[in-house]
Amino acid sequence: MSRFARGAGLRRIAGAAALALTANVLIVCSALVILTSELHGASTVLRDAVASVRLAEGAEVDLLTHDRARDDVVRHAIGNELRRKLDEAGKHVTSESERVVLGEAARSVERYLATFGSGDGSRGTLMQAAHLSLRKLVGANVAQADTAQRRAHLWDKLGNVIGFLTGAVTIAILATLSWWIRRAVVGPALSLAASMRRFGNGERDVRGGESGATEIRDMARQFNRMADAIGRKEESRLAYLAGIAHDLRNPLTALRISIDGIKADRPLPPENQLRQRLSVVQRQVTRLNRMIGDLLDASRIEAGHLSLQIAAHDLRLLIQEAVELFDGVSPVHDLRVDLPAQPVEVLCDELRMAQTLNNLLSNAIKYSPRGGDVRVEVRAEDDRAILSVADNGVGIPDGDVPHIWEPFRRTGASTEAIPGVGLGLWVAKRIVEAQGGTIAVESSPGAGSTFSVVLPLLKVREAANESQLVIPASDPP
Ligand SMILES: Nc1ncnc2c1ncn2[C@@H]1O[C@H](COP(=O)(O)OP(=O)(O)OP(=O)(O)O)[C@@H](O)[C@H]1O
Ligand SMILES: [Mg+2]
Repeated sequence: MSRFARGAGLRRIAGAAALALTANVLIVCSALVILTSELHGASTVLRDAVASVRLAEGAEVDLLTHDRARDDVVRHAIGNELRRKLDEAGKHVTSESERVVLGEAARSVERYLATFGSGDGSRGTLMQAAHLSLRKLVGANVAQADTAQRRAHLWDKLGNVIGFLTGAVTIAILATLSWWIRRAVVGPALSLAASMRRFGNGERDVRGGESGATEIRDMARQFNRMADAIGRKEESRLAYLAGIAHDLRNPLTALRISIDGIKADRPLPPENQLRQRLSVVQRQVTRLNRMIGDLLDASRIEAGHLSLQIAAHDLRLLIQEAVELFDGVSPVHDLRVDLPAQPVEVLCDELRMAQTLNNLLSNAIKYSPRGGDVRVEVRAEDDRAILSVADNGVGIPDGDVPHIWEPFRRTGASTEAIPGVGLGLWVAKRIVEAQGGTIAVESSPGAGSTFSVVLPLLKVREAANESQLVIPASDPP
């Protein structure tokens, strides 16, 4: 069997086999019909030929008996019997040539019978002629019987050949089909099942062989893809755990250093030093709190359990509140806000939207360590509200842009020096998208980045009458 057939689809091969078997059965049925009708024809010819021979030979005997009869009454009766037999032979004629021979015999017998009573002297000669024509009739029927027998024999042989050939073809089709099923279906399916079992038992690098029938190859491909995805997921979970451990260690180390000198059995450090240490503790606890909050959000989003409390909000107010939070946080940054005079109302979850804005603002400050302007704008355009946060910071290399939305993906060399878990944008993207919006970035490395959030304006969303949304479960990190 060719490689093509080994790789063909189950349905295709089963269809082809069914077609071939049907064609075979059709050939057998047609051959049977032809054979039986031919044999029937031959047996009819044989039966008629035998009857004709019997009648012609009886007529010969009658002819001789007639010639020798002395009594006119007896002769008359024999003559009638002779005519009856020839009439009867007429019913068994099976060919035109036999009809001609029978006609000649009947005429010649009539000529002979007519000599009686007419005193014709040529009776002996006419009797010879009638006898000869009856012999010819016998010969013609014997020849016909021979021909019919030969034909029957021929059809018998042909029947044998057809029977043998169709039987052989059927066996060949079934044998090929079962060989193919074993080789292209059963074998690969068993090996795939074994690979799945081994994978299930923890051998994570086992993959299924993509061979055999199309359907089995598709199954193997699907399994391999799933195994790759699980492998990647496990890898990223390990990286995730390592990242969390690493990021949690920084604030914890800072906490440990701050409280190191304070012992129960030793005097407290001077008040100004104590205040300094407490402020470090406060900052690190806030940081730890935020990190753990983000991690909880991430796991809730992943499980599809984060619900949004949707209401109408003016984005200008949310921006003002967020900017106030960051105002003065960094001495080298200048926060510039550009808000329109008209409200920019959207349906959103106030807290989550503030969380998104905080992350965008903190990123803009964090990732522009040399300082500069951070511009926050919002405007209504057609039926959309467009909010942007722009900075003159380190920017994001083109190749990294698609990855900044992935959880725990922190890009760029500068991130090593800049604290963060790599969850902010991932959470922000999920929140914005759950509110019917989009988030995108335009960035040039070394020149800065502009993050834009686009949300439908309230008038567009009113018709939908949404009040609570649940973020659907995300793809695994
Ligand atoms: N304004 C920006 N300029 C340059 N790079 C940015 C900017 N904002 C985000 N990035 C890049 O995108 C990555 C992901 O940002 P994200 O906010 O998700 O994580 P993070 O700020 O590192 O940590 P987290 O926000 O969870 O504390 C960052 O690590 C950084 O490499
Ligand atoms: Mg961030």
